[in-house]
Amino acid sequence: MSPAPIRRSQRLNQITHAPHEQLDKAVKANAPFETLASYCRFLSAQYLFQHELKTLYTDPQLIELIADLPQRCRAEQARADLNDLDTPIPGPVAGSVSNPPLAEALGWLFVSEGSKLGAAFLIKRAVSLNLSETFGARHLGEPAGGRADGWKRFIRILDDLPFNEEQERQIDRGAVAAFERFNVLLEHAYKSAVEAEPA
Ligand code: HEM
Repeated sequence: MSPAPIRRSQRLNQITHAPHEQLDKAVKANAPFETLASYCRFLSAQYLFQHELKTLYTDPQLIELIADLPQRCRAEQARADLNDLDTPIPGPVAGSVSNPPLAEALGWLFVSEGSKLGAAFLIKRAVSLNLSETFGARHLGEPAGGRADGWKRFIRILDDLPFNEEQERQIDRGAVAAFERFNVLLEHAYKSAVEAEPA
């Protein structure tokens, strides 16, 4: 008997393993939980990422597939976090995702939803900066219904969608592009930090 084919979500995990490792290192290299100033830069990147994805989280076609999609978006929490910390809302950065095909959009959402798993570790670190899911680190908080459950429900829907080959390529492309985009936003957030420092 031939082995069962791997699930779509497993394939996405595999192809994003290296980009995730790289991003994990990039986040940690900036030590976002050492100082509030660094955390605010990290938060700005998180806000920009979530804000850019709002068009996908509120897309009627995608909501037809994932009914609670709008509630999953963390742009408002990230905005409230920025307000908590008296940090200006960052302006748009060129190159945000725009009108991707449905399957590609789901690749982006896979990454955004998956990042809630890592957030469970990050919020524990945020405590040392006196941040919590009710102040400054709302966007890293436990989603209603729990992290594991929300993720499992998302993955189940994703894995059961009937895709053609082109759509399989599109979802892969979306997931990889999402990691690339987070990198760009992270670099942007920390670059402006350096520029803002007095000479
Ligand atoms: C924008 C996207 C993402 C960012 C910025 C991100 C960031 C991070 C960071 C910094 C950590 C390390 C936490 C620590 O060691 O304290 C982490 C861990 C983790 N992330 Fe992500 N992540 C992203 C996407 C994803 C995705 C798509 C998945 C799942 C498919 C995922 C699953 C995990 C898991 C399970 C952990 C904890 C254990 C481990 O390192 O394997 N993350 N993430």
